[in-house]
Amino acid sequence: MKKIGIIGGSGLENIAGLSFCGEEYIHTPYGDPSDKYKVYKSSDAEIYALSRHGNDHRFAPHQINYKANIYGFHQVQVSEILSFSAVGGINFNYKNGDLVLTDDAIDNTNRSDITFYDKTGSVIHIDMSIPFCPSVRAKLKESAALCGIDLIDKGTYICTNGPRFETPAEIKMYRIWGADMVGMTLFPELTLSKELGICYANISLITNAASGVEENRKLTSDEVIEEAKRNTLKITKIIEQYIKYDKRESCECKNILQGAAVSK
Ligand code: HPA
Repeated sequence: MKKIGIIGGSGLENIAGLSFCGEEYIHTPYGDPSDKYKVYKSSDAEIYALSRHGNDHRFAPHQINYKANIYGFHQVQVSEILSFSAVGGINFNYKNGDLVLTDDAIDNTNRSDITFYDKTGSVIHIDMSIPFCPSVRAKLKESAALCGIDLIDKGTYICTNGPRFETPAEIKMYRIWGADMVGMTLFPELTLSKELGICYANISLITNAASGVEENRKLTSDEVIEEAKRNTLKITKIIEQYIKYDKRESCECKNILQGAAVSK
């Protein structure tokens, strides 16, 4: 049976409105994932849903064990991860509640522990030319359309270390760099998934205008989480629709290691 992973962030933890089968604690060689994986079943798929911040939002972005979270999905053999994130809108056209099907990304973190290939004896450079799985993206887009939910079909996510929010000058700079939205968790989650050949696509939910976009406006964590909660239903509907129909185009994600190693 097909296995699908779902990872959600602030206010997006309980996202699968499907038949719930229980929780599974998955131990990994990289330590403990943020939480138990919630397991759901449909007629054609088994779904593993993980809250990246853990129960009660225990882990700040810099405290998340990204390797354990992604390796856990690999251990249960999901073919794809549908990722949902709360982000601040940098693009002036975005408004709260908008959903963006991320198509490109900038890693502005300086995290350690960012690759599974640090003890392999060979040097691996993962190709990032197609940052998100085109096949999963297409299916998410179609699923949203079938539900009548608007989805902005491209946008660039810049990932910061956090846990603090940004200054207005940082946001101005990120806009010049080409970023449309800012969050704190896409990296290394995306790259670790790619390294394991797991298809990965992200829908980002705009929960707030990023710092300085609205003048003299203070940003609070609660407003981010409240906005995320207000939009959970839309995301649940997209997931349900995604899971309902089984087919998607083939893609090259599984073959990521071809050409990735430096020849000796
Ligand atoms: N900045 C960074 N991360 C975020 C934001 C933000 O404005 N909103 C939600 N996650």
